[in-house]
Amino acid sequence: KVLVGNAYTAIDHHQIKFLPQALIEIDSSGVIDRVLEPTAPDYQAAYQAAQQAHLLEKVPADQVIFPGFVDLHVHAPQWPQAGLALDKPLAAWLNDYTFPLEAKYQDLDFARQVYHELVHELLAQGTTTVLFFGTIHPEANLVLGEESLHQGLRTLIGRVAMDNPDQTPAYYRDSSSQAAIVATETFIHQLNDLGKDNPLSPIPVITPRFVPSCTDATLAGLGRLARKYDLPVQSHVSESNWEHQYAIDRFGIHDAAVLDHFGLLTSRTVLAHATQLTPEDQALLRQRKTAIAHCPISNAYFGNGVLPVNDLLAAKNRVGLGTDISGGYSPSLYDNLRHAVALSQVRNDGISRDDEGIANSRISMVASFYLATVGGAEALNLPVGRIQAGKIADLQVVKDRFKRPTETAQERFERILYQTHRSEIMQVYTQGDQVYQA
Ligand code: GUN
Ligand code: FE
Repeated sequence: KVLVGNAYTAIDHHQIKFLPQALIEIDSSGVIDRVLEPTAPDYQAAYQAAQQAHLLEKVPADQVIFPGFVDLHVHAPQWPQAGLALDKPLAAWLNDYTFPLEAKYQDLDFARQVYHELVHELLAQGTTTVLFFGTIHPEANLVLGEESLHQGLRTLIGRVAMDNPDQTPAYYRDSSSQAAIVATETFIHQLNDLGKDNPLSPIPVITPRFVPSCTDATLAGLGRLARKYDLPVQSHVSESNWEHQYAIDRFGIHDAAVLDHFGLLTSRTVLAHATQLTPEDQALLRQRKTAIAHCPISNAYFGNGVLPVNDLLAAKNRVGLGTDISGGYSPSLYDNLRHAVALSQVRNDGISRDDEGIANSRISMVASFYLATVGGAEALNLPVGRIQAGKIADLQVVKDRFKRPTETAQERFERILYQTHRSEIMQVYTQGDQVYQA
């Protein structure tokens, strides 16, 4: 397949590359072979060859091609409550709303119905890769894997481990540390058997919910499993004042250091939120090449602060974006990249007349787009997120409903990212195949 159209891809968090009328050649395995600009010597020949072979797909002039977005933090089971109870503090929201909902996923019909809808919704929002938290139920998590595979969403899925009786309800917890480890290991094998040779087959993820919900034995056991199977790890870190303080009270150190102690900070780890990390914690993550999932909408409700994204990017911490459904109400990374910019300006300028804010906190829309594409891809060590030879063809095609003949390519890029509605995301591709059409 060969796509021809106006494309944008991030170079780094300061720069994008505009590719006018780029010819994007995708091989039969769904990988981008070549990206040619009209000035390239081979362009005309490649164009004509594609046309003759009926492989050419011309993207109309009022549409642009972006890499598909990478969502680093979604709680799949929380989709039915996205947009509910966000005026509650974190602990109350978890205990009164979230745990009762997640417990319902022992009902596989319910799981099927929710996960079918969620996977479709994420693709429709231009998201092509998702790092999912599931529930404690291996079977329901497999249903999520089946739905993802069936609909063509690239996923990584974690069976949530939570066994600390002090911080989890009796109706929704692992009965023991051993039970948590055995269920996690079983799930790894089951998920690995799903869609074995399919390049989109879901990847299992070691998933301690967060430090408060796990006993020491479970944290240690999960660290061993991550090493034994060389798997990605995901959790929450320093999300709120309460969570940050909890680790200090129980261990005398910060939760980032606790995760490190148990072997859970690796170059394949993604930690959500991180708003309360100290500079030392940030340095530890940097040293371990552990990534942060920045969840700007969710952090506004539960984060007790705004993540210093600009500092983290400057220091070369790995950062991507997450919706955190349902701590964040929106399944759209477009909404989140807009909030990431807006909140960075609040951090920069302060919250009142007497508050001078924190200088150099602003990020641009380019940086936000970088987080949603390259940042996420690098956090997961996956060859996606760029329109470039050698990367997998996970793409979205977006309609621009306004004509602004005098604006520059850079201005058009920014405006489209601010103004795109879900209904204008026309086509979504994963591994070179169209998996969604408006
Ligand atoms: N901390 C532990 N569990 C959760 C969760 O489900 N959502 C959020 N936002 N934070 C958490
Ligand atoms: Fe979360």
